[in-house]
Amino acid sequence: MYYPDDVVEEVRSRNDIVDIISGYVKLQKKGSSYFGLCPFHHEKSPSFSVSPNKQMYYCFGCGAGGNVITFLMEYENYSFPEALKALADRAGIELPKQEMSKEARAQADLRATLLEINKLAANYFHYQLKQPHGRIGYEYLTGRGLSDDTIRHFGLGYSNKTSDDLYRYLKGRGYSDSILKESGLFTISEKGTWDKFWNRVMFPIMDINNRVIGFGGRVMGDGEPKYLNSPETKLFDKSRNLYGLNFARSSREKYFLICEGYMDVIAMHQAGFTNAVASLGTAFTTQHASLLKRYTSQVILTYDSDGAGIKAALRAIPILKEVGISCKVLNMKPHKDPDEFIKNLGADAFRERIAEAKNSFLFEIEVMKQGYDLEDPEQKTDFYTAVAKKLLEFSDALERDNYLQAVCREQFINYQDLKQLVSRTAARLGPAWAETARTAGRYGAASLTAGGAAVQGGSYYDPRGEKVTDGTGRRPGAGRREKDDGAKQSQRLLLTWLIEEPRLFDRIRGIITPDDFRDGLYHQVAEMVFAGHENGSLSPAAILNHFIDDETQYREVAALFSASLKEPLESEQQKKAFAETVIKVRRHSLDEASRSAADIGQLQEIIKAQSALKTLHISFD
Ligand code: UTP
Ligand code: MN
Repeated sequence: MYYPDDVVEEVRSRNDIVDIISGYVKLQKKGSSYFGLCPFHHEKSPSFSVSPNKQMYYCFGCGAGGNVITFLMEYENYSFPEALKALADRAGIELPKQEMSKEARAQADLRATLLEINKLAANYFHYQLKQPHGRIGYEYLTGRGLSDDTIRHFGLGYSNKTSDDLYRYLKGRGYSDSILKESGLFTISEKGTWDKFWNRVMFPIMDINNRVIGFGGRVMGDGEPKYLNSPETKLFDKSRNLYGLNFARSSREKYFLICEGYMDVIAMHQAGFTNAVASLGTAFTTQHASLLKRYTSQVILTYDSDGAGIKAALRAIPILKEVGISCKVLNMKPHKDPDEFIKNLGADAFRERIAEAKNSFLFEIEVMKQGYDLEDPEQKTDFYTAVAKKLLEFSDALERDNYLQAVCREQFINYQDLKQLVSRTAARLGPAWAETARTAGRYGAASLTAGGAAVQGGSYYDPRGEKVTDGTGRRPGAGRREKDDGAKQSQRLLLTWLIEEPRLFDRIRGIITPDDFRDGLYHQVAEMVFAGHENGSLSPAAILNHFIDDETQYREVAALFSASLKEPLESEQQKKAFAETVIKVRRHSLDEASRSAADIGQLQEIIKAQSALKTLHISFD
């Protein structure tokens, strides 16, 4: 953070969040909050809330949340200093001279310069298409069915056969060798300097703000490598960017299409499927999935129909599930990729395939089936057992049964027979197996619905906690991890309570301290919430200032502050629930402390505290 805390807080508090957000989103008052359509994901009914009391926004649909500063950062794609400057100007506050350290300044300048270089290079490549030397590139692209509009929209270009024309062009603009080297566009050695890309059609890769961060270049005709990509640079991190996302993020569809290649994305966009993105010549990563999660909770995989494409799909499915994105797989046959499919069968046929896309679980079963010769009775039995085993990955009984029915329909298996086999397989493998399969992050209940965001969104009806028992009885193998989740849940609930009902703070004074919040992030928040209560200045939005550096963190804190309690603390039942939560948090804290007690004296203290907890009474009088 480049500015002192009090400056940041002054700027924040002098800009009313309702005023600011009203400039971007149509808000309507409902109770003590305002609601509108979320600007960070597509929705038809408003789940985006702005609280004037807390000076925070939070979307119950996608989990976006924060204070007025993070709003501008996310909406305008401002950096922190940019957002702060805009808000300071608006409130007529003069910011102190930049306290950016020398290194930070240099880093920021470096990034800005690299962006400039990339932009110049993209323009240069694009310009070449219409030059005599670049005609070959232009003809290649149009020969592949791309219109002039498409070529312009994606900023496609051509790198000349000359080995150093881009280098000379940029040198002429005054850039030093050392910065040009950092751009990844050149090979610079004692022997000389060359353009890395030559005689290729060029695909500029843009980040979500339409800034060019790297390139892919395709060889003309046959040749190796077919695609050459920019190396990783200060700007370009393949595992965190998706080709086409800058356009796809504002498509109107609820789902995204994920494909393998540049040409596939472009062909789909040209045919009207502007929700297509591709990972850049690299496998789909968890970071890609988290990035997508900001925009959608549903994807359709449109990978190549060959073996490599199927393998890539099988890898991507659990990664997507893990972040709560549900997915389907599109059948491209008899064509290889979306580009070829659309060229041969057209957009309407492609739209039909989208409608018919297969649920990812059924797709996995279908692939599995290829490994068995179903004419052979023994192998057929093995296949059914494997199916049963896979069904056990669903921890929720109802969900499992839905899939069981679907598999039976698809594979013509008798429902009762398979159901029995699933039970027998579960008994044979024992609870430990199913537990491992689930905690491996595959089809846990948490990824059941598109509502995954609501789960992250800090609703404390944590599905994992709730589904400790399902229709089949007590969930087996409840281990450490589950206990930790439960403890986290209580800590979260208690913090929410302390924010929503400030008078409760008096009830826990002397019983709970911030140190009882063992989870790192919650502990930090608790420190600030307690301090705020103590000196009568509790401000959720001010607390958020401390987490602005880390989007995941400020979102989680915003969720924590925005979960509203189902009922006020009037009923006896609620009071009881509150007392139980306090005790849970304290007990977990003491358990943890006893695990790390340094000596016998400390341990005795803890034991004393533990037994005191048994008779603890929280009074509401
Ligand atoms: P494909 O070989 O399937 O390419 O690689 P494609 O998109 O169908 O290309 P065309 O239609 O022949 O022009 C899929 C993606 O894998 C990456 C690229 O991102 C490509 O779009 N790739 C492929 C590379 O990075 N390097 C390569 O040598 C090949
Ligand atoms: Mn292709």
